[in-house]
Amino acid sequence: MKMNSLIFAIAFILSFAGGYFLFSGGDSAGTVADSPEQQETSDAEKTEDGNKEETSQETVSSEAEALERNNCLSCHAVESIGVEGGTTGPDLSKAFQDVEGKHGKSLDEFLQEPTSAVMSTVIGDNPLSDEERTEIIKVLQKAAEQ
Ligand code: HEC
Repeated sequence: MKMNSLIFAIAFILSFAGGYFLFSGGDSAGTVADSPEQQETSDAEKTEDGNKEETSQETVSSEAEALERNNCLSCHAVESIGVEGGTTGPDLSKAFQDVEGKHGKSLDEFLQEPTSAVMSTVIGDNPLSDEERTEIIKVLQKAAEQ
C-alpha cells in the first residue's frame, strides 16, 4: 500500500512533467509512455479512496509541495495528511507541537538552526529561505491539527 501511493505520487509528478512538455511542444513520446502508468495507479487509488481521487491527491501534493521541493520527504513522512516519505527521520505529523519539547525551540527556530545531528547537516548544507520555511511550518501546523 505504501508502495502504491509512492508510485502514484511519482506518476502524478511525471504526468505534470508530461503535460508541460506537451504544451511547450516537446516530444510526445514521453507523454504516451506516461499515460498507461498513470491510469494504472489511478485505478489502484480508486479502490482505496473511492472516487474523487484526482481532487484529493492534488490537495495533498500541493500541501506537501514545500516538503517535496526541499527534499524533506526523502527522510520524513507526514502520515496525518497522508504524505508518504522516507523513514530515516521521524514522522512529522506532530512535529509542530513536539519540536518545542524535544529540542527546546520552536519549529521556526529549529528549521533555522537545528540542534540535532542529522538536521544540522541537512539545513547546514541547504538553508531554507524564509518563504520555504513559512510554507513548511504551515503544512506541519495543519498536519498537527488533523
Ligand atoms: C537526510 C535525511 C533528512 C532530511 C533530508 C530531512 N530530515 Fe528532518 N530529520 C532527520 C532525522 C534523522 C531527524 C531526527 C533528529 C536528528 O537526528 O537530526 C530529523 C528531525 C526533524 C525534525 C524534528 C522532529 C522531531 O520530532 O524531533 C523536524 C521538524 C524535521 N526533521 C524537519 C525536516 C524538514 C522540514 C526537512 C526538509 C527541509 C527535513 N527535515 C529534511 C532526517 C532528515
